[in-house]
Amino acid sequence: MPTDRPLVVVDVGSQQLTGHTYSHRSLFDEPRCRYIGVDVVAGNNVDVVLRKPYGLPFDDDSVDVIVSGQTFEHIPFFWATMMDFARVVRPSGLVILSAPSRGHVHHRPHFDGWRFYSAGFQALGDFVGLECLEATTDYPPSAPETRRWDYSRARSYWGDTIGVFQKSAAYDAAAIAPVRSELLAWANRQAGSPEQLSTRGVTAAPRTLLRRTLRHARRLGRAARARMRSQAV
Ligand SMILES: C[S@@+](CC[C@H](N)C(=O)[O-])C[C@H]1O[C@@H](n2cnc3c(N)ncnc32)[C@H](O)[C@@H]1O
Repeated sequence: MPTDRPLVVVDVGSQQLTGHTYSHRSLFDEPRCRYIGVDVVAGNNVDVVLRKPYGLPFDDDSVDVIVSGQTFEHIPFFWATMMDFARVVRPSGLVILSAPSRGHVHHRPHFDGWRFYSAGFQALGDFVGLECLEATTDYPPSAPETRRWDYSRARSYWGDTIGVFQKSAAYDAAAIAPVRSELLAWANRQAGSPEQLSTRGVTAAPRTLLRRTLRHARRLGRAARARMRSQAV
């Protein structure tokens, strides 16, 4: 990480909702960091409001750390968002995600459609070309009698998966760029505004997007299989 300038930290889905007592800003509130809160709506702790839900208004390789907490479950096409995180984060930079692995559906402020496990974060890293350095799910304690997860205790009601991703030298910007631009354009067409996310139907993806995504998935699939093989030995 750089020592000659402040660390640029972008928090995606940064809004501090009513009743919440702190935001990620407090973690980076020091001269060594330049924290920028980004959200699709204006609100407390939001510095930049996105004009479209998919795609960040930052240059390629310009951000040291992207954090996003309790937001991916609210993004219908979160893999498109993550693909843009990979563009924006600088080489060796980090993306840190936290998102629920369990808990009730909460349409606050709108769409809530996903829960995440560590293997899902690994796969997400593979898809966007980021290395998943670590992914951990805080499962509830297991019940001694059955040795199954015990979801019945109150403090086990909510759980999260945390993922730390890095942009390595293997990131192939030129190969991913055409897929990303098609994917973001398609995702933005589905969701013109946050209010529409949960109410509008999804239209079929155009052929070029499907073809490019397929080619991209084949290429990254080879890398993912190689990683899984090396983890298995
Ligand atoms: C449950 S809140 C989480 C807020 C905060 N990060 C926290 O942990 O308390 C989810 C936030 O994600 C925002 N959001 C939803 N879709 C988004 C998108 N595509 N890009 C950025 N923010 C988004 C919502 O507007 C909302 O402020």
